[in-house]
Amino acid sequence: MKRPILLHPDPRLKKVCAPVDDITDDLRALADDMLETMYDAPGIGLAAPQVGVLGRLIVLDCVKEEGAAPRPLVMFNPQVVAASDERNVYEEGCLSIPDQYADVERPRVVDVEWMDRDGNAQRETFDGLWATCVQHEIDHLDGKLFIDYLKPLRRQMITRKMVKLKKERAREKA
Ligand code: NI
Repeated sequence: MKRPILLHPDPRLKKVCAPVDDITDDLRALADDMLETMYDAPGIGLAAPQVGVLGRLIVLDCVKEEGAAPRPLVMFNPQVVAASDERNVYEEGCLSIPDQYADVERPRVVDVEWMDRDGNAQRETFDGLWATCVQHEIDHLDGKLFIDYLKPLRRQMITRKMVKLKKERAREKA
């Protein structure tokens, strides 16, 4: 089932999310909903707070090549455990900040540990777009958005546009 995606600014997008102790069927269903919501958007990553759930869960799939098999990843309690000194700049966007993009610099390679949907510990090295995406999604679990990396003026400009967009959407619904 698709879930509505919260739009910035929203206090729930600024919260530090709680770790997941026990992977219940409800949480697995939430992960499936998040993947469906992400693919439908379309996007390459989504974090639980973006659908209003303040738990440490992200989903991602950065396979972009036409015709390539999808690789949906579900990560509970994901953690960056090592990061390269070498950095990379990608133009980032966010499903909670539609149509706004900006260059963000992050470590080019990261090692991430997480728990999969069966509760098994996983560890993998991510590079390039995957590394950027997984860091962007983990940031969401700490209440951090990609615009928080921008200069204050640019961030305020984007936030003002978003406030306007939210008002317009609220009017459309009314
Ligand atoms: Ni995002």
